[in-house]
Amino acid sequence: MLLMDIDGHILAVSTERYEVLHERPLFAEQDPEVWWEKTCLAIRKVIEISGCSSDSIQGIGLTGQMHSLVVLDSDGKVIRPAILWSDQRTQPECDWMNEHIGSSHILRFTANPALPNFTATKLQWIRQHEPYHFKKIAKILLPKDYIRYCLTGEYASDVSDASGTLLFDVRNRHWSQEMCERLEIPMEWLPRVLESPELTGTVNPTAAAKTGLQIGTKVVAGAGDQASGAVGNGIVRSGVVSSTIGTSGVVFAFAKNIVQDEQGRLHSFCHAVPGAWHVMGVTQAAGGSLQWYAKQFAPLEQALAETLAEDVYNLLAKEAAQVAAGSEGLVYLPYLLGERTPHLDPYARAVFFGVTVRHKRAHFVRGIMEGVSFSLRDSLSLIEDLQLPIEEIRLSGGGAKSDLWCSIQTNIYGRSVHTVESDEGPAFGAAILAGVGTGCFVDVESACDLLIMRKHTYHPQLDEMNLYNRQYAVYKEIYELLKPLYR
Ligand code: XUL
Repeated sequence: MLLMDIDGHILAVSTERYEVLHERPLFAEQDPEVWWEKTCLAIRKVIEISGCSSDSIQGIGLTGQMHSLVVLDSDGKVIRPAILWSDQRTQPECDWMNEHIGSSHILRFTANPALPNFTATKLQWIRQHEPYHFKKIAKILLPKDYIRYCLTGEYASDVSDASGTLLFDVRNRHWSQEMCERLEIPMEWLPRVLESPELTGTVNPTAAAKTGLQIGTKVVAGAGDQASGAVGNGIVRSGVVSSTIGTSGVVFAFAKNIVQDEQGRLHSFCHAVPGAWHVMGVTQAAGGSLQWYAKQFAPLEQALAETLAEDVYNLLAKEAAQVAAGSEGLVYLPYLLGERTPHLDPYARAVFFGVTVRHKRAHFVRGIMEGVSFSLRDSLSLIEDLQLPIEEIRLSGGGAKSDLWCSIQTNIYGRSVHTVESDEGPAFGAAILAGVGTGCFVDVESACDLLIMRKHTYHPQLDEMNLYNRQYAVYKEIYELLKPLYR
């Protein structure tokens, strides 16, 4: 949660955490009611920390994880836990859709292929496996839109988030009647969709009592975490591209017109900038790889970090910085959750290749940072293949807070990269969208020009670039060799 003033100064930030439940292999779920409880706490905290009076809040922008499915009954109650973007159980549903609807039709109707991450496949899974839940469904929502529903009572979404459902006609920026008909999904289940800065409703009395907000505070449509993060990093014009390492990793490019990778390896979605689009490549487990590693193999550092109130990743990165580029031949493939770009393979699995007796834990940490950056380079190459200009790369997310990870990225991409002053990407972007929607700023582009400043620039070093080019070829070959073993 972030509170920003109209000059773009961040007045307060607060964070609440909650677990992802992996009850079975491939499963990833969360309880939407926990999101709401935590959101209420976080809103109360930012108001308190900032010392602002809640009646000075002009508007609220929403952002959140994309694709995850929330199902509600006719009383607006959550029917079952949300099936998350990272859940990989629905490849059989994708296969069924490709056969039943036709993969080329799906690409034509939605601009994207059927992938287990996308919402419609999760809905199809509930139909198949939990008919008792399916028959209760009256509405479906995305995560930030469930929070909107709790805040305002409105069922609404925005074009960027709707793009990741596989039920949206991305080219024409409205729900796809063709997809809904073929999947027998009543269109009344879907929320109305607006451009990201548009107003969707106001805070209602129940939500005001729970959050400390004023009744009637305006709520704008907002955007999925990636489009909102792109606004927060100023990716609102051709030529500016971001590489974001959060739990997932994303390379994101602005597009004036809709562009598509023929094989659907990059997502083609509407942008939060009204009337614009974007493409993005996704690494499923980017920061997620380091989170997993720290949890499993660095419990002492976790405890130490808590005592020192330091980030465990800083402690691990300090260690990893002692190791030379290339991690002495250790190569990591970050496929802990299968992989999206470029393989579209939910069954891919992570690999440490080339382990020797000389390797210490620091090599594994550095190897993870390098492997994730190789995976992001895959996305960058596909964006280049689409002839989209790449004039400037901005780094963001947790990865951009690590000096080491920034220099690894510049050397692996073989290009200069920049960080920006605000490191609150998606939340900052949502606040900008709220500012535009409530008339504090003229439009998204001019707000970004005004508020987003570059911080550091990293330039690649020739010897490291060459070394990483050689290692990238090995990285790519490992997947090709292992692919037949993943089924
Ligand atoms: C984007 C994606 C992730 C999630 C969670 O396609 O899957 O960015 O939104 O961060």
